[in-house]
Amino acid sequence: WLGYLSGDYSRQGASIKAAPAWAERIYAIENHKVISTALGELTQGLEKLFGVKAKTVTAANQADEQALNAPGVWIGTWSENPFVAQAFSESERAAVQGEGYVIREDEEQGRLWVGAETPQGALYATFHLLRELVLDQGRSSETDPSAKKWSYITEQPRNALRMINQWDNVDGSIERGYAGESIFYENGEFTRDIGRIRDYARLLASTGINAISINNVNVHQRETLFLTERFLSDVARVASEFRDYGIRLFLSANYASPMEIGGLLTADPLDEQVREWWNIQTAKVYAAIPDFGGYLIKADSENRPGPFTYNRDHADGANMLAEALRPFGGLVIWRCFVYNCKQDWRDRSTDRARAAYDHFKPLDGRFADNVILQIKNGPMDFQVREAVSPLFGAMEKTNQVLEFQITQEYTGQQRHLCYLIPQWKVVLDFDTYAKGQGSEVKRIADGSLYNRPHSGFAAVSNIGADACWTGHPLAQANLYGYGRLAWNPELSSEEIADEWVRLTFGHDEEVVGQISGMLLNSLDIYENYTAPLGVGWMVNPDHHYGPNVDGYEYSKWGTYHFADCHGIGVDRTVKSGTGYALQYHRENAERYESVETCPDELLLFFHHVPYTHVLHSGKTVIQHIYDTHFLGAEQAEVLAETWRKLEGKVDPEIFEKVASRQEDQAEHAKEWRDMINTYFYRKSGIEDEQGRTIY
Ligand code: GCU
Repeated sequence: WLGYLSGDYSRQGASIKAAPAWAERIYAIENHKVISTALGELTQGLEKLFGVKAKTVTAANQADEQALNAPGVWIGTWSENPFVAQAFSESERAAVQGEGYVIREDEEQGRLWVGAETPQGALYATFHLLRELVLDQGRSSETDPSAKKWSYITEQPRNALRMINQWDNVDGSIERGYAGESIFYENGEFTRDIGRIRDYARLLASTGINAISINNVNVHQRETLFLTERFLSDVARVASEFRDYGIRLFLSANYASPMEIGGLLTADPLDEQVREWWNIQTAKVYAAIPDFGGYLIKADSENRPGPFTYNRDHADGANMLAEALRPFGGLVIWRCFVYNCKQDWRDRSTDRARAAYDHFKPLDGRFADNVILQIKNGPMDFQVREAVSPLFGAMEKTNQVLEFQITQEYTGQQRHLCYLIPQWKVVLDFDTYAKGQGSEVKRIADGSLYNRPHSGFAAVSNIGADACWTGHPLAQANLYGYGRLAWNPELSSEEIADEWVRLTFGHDEEVVGQISGMLLNSLDIYENYTAPLGVGWMVNPDHHYGPNVDGYEYSKWGTYHFADCHGIGVDRTVKSGTGYALQYHRENAERYESVETCPDELLLFFHHVPYTHVLHSGKTVIQHIYDTHFLGAEQAEVLAETWRKLEGKVDPEIFEKVASRQEDQAEHAKEWRDMINTYFYRKSGIEDEQGRTIY
């Protein structure tokens, strides 16, 4: 999406316009790395778009009053660039803080003003401007009222923290990675190919991302050493690449570090020596990386160490680290993915969905002010459909970030097309009723509902060393869309898809229409042929790819569907089930508690029902399963056909790559259809109303 229509194919359908007068000169007189980055981006972007190489002025003494009257772009911050500051009124300047920005074109004079409070703001403004210039090439200015949206722009990010989590291991593998090996590490060392990391920083910054953790939340032995002299200079080198793009670096840390690398006998958070160890080690990290972001912690989760071993709770654990980080302005991001992973399927009272709330709600108010809890969007684990985590709306006095999974662990592993933005929109727009109507998750994530100092988004990245970054080239839309949504959760799935397709493929209306259509339909299609009605799972154990209805049914992970010959679903009601429904505020609790009002798409998440239960749609559960699975497999075939029609209209290499993934998806969807339909036909003994053959 940063090609700026430089490829032959992406120029098709674009009405390439003449360079604006201001494009001939750029004044960026501040001595700041991020301003230099912005200048580089702007120069490169304008050259690609218009074929003109702007002259750049970086020395303050050349930017005099006389220059002010000549055409050019002036870019900078209020405090360091008086020319920019003068160009905007006081109220315009006051309207944007931190990473916000204002852009104004003075068309007659041939000048463009780009101003912000911080260099980061100027960088985001640059990417915004370039994006608009590309989109402009698809608009014919005479007729299109939306043309030249960039003549005056004022923007402010809605979320303060807009973070990416890498699940990369130092051996070069990526946990749940579907796009090749790590771009950060190989063979137990940091990579020497720093260029790829810089490119990644650029990709992320262009969407508005401002923070990254660079190693897996499961911190193994060697990665535990990242906090030590052994690796700190490598970490610092990576941090400096991200810094140039305004992105702060974090590390996932091993809770048991004081024992594993510090030689202590305990990691008890209340032990003086343990606390001292963290204080000293953290000071060393800051000596190497003065703007280090902080620690991301997975503790007492899936066999990882944590404070429970010492009969301490998660506030004790997190606050210990907070104390070590506080003098340097660092943050502890503490994950809430804590549950019993040694369950027995016969035990119907333990409910994994309840776990995060049960663990963390009682701790509300006990976390230090530089601790943020990171909460997955749903209470289970990134399924194609699950309820929204009830922890959102349950903690008034705790900083929180919302965690999404861009990597498609349970949504087709980047072999299937699955545009996730519509799924995330459902979560963001979910009304928790925590403070009455209008208490949507997006208002908790952005900190406004409870007026929290730290808040935002985090997400597990989907990139790797693949040439196209994301395995499936169209999966880039998820990375792009995540950043855009983190910046502004009000953007629609359609807007984001349209933007990404135009930036990536150009403005040929057929290409834009077909690819956007594929993206926008893909989540429903994937849901149609996989686990039905919100029950989730039904995947092969361990690697999680492909259908296996009972794959997790008798294992210890707590991910059951309880299907037998009578019915299916998890009873999470208060009346007869695990009581999970009561973790929501009244409006939602009541809606989910009753089969009458529970929405169809979550029916089996909340209720155990007979196969003959009639949905709001008028179909029985079993007929719904048959119909959606036949339909989903057909739709997957249509996706492949739609793509095939674009041959000759998109870059041939990308064409081939997507074509082969879509063929695979269409085949694999049939396998899903047949496995699921056969299983439920056999269990229920109920015929398909339409008499289709069930394999
Ligand atoms: C899922 C995933 C794991 C990951 C975990 C987490 O369970 O399968 O690989 O470590 O989530 O989010 O910590």
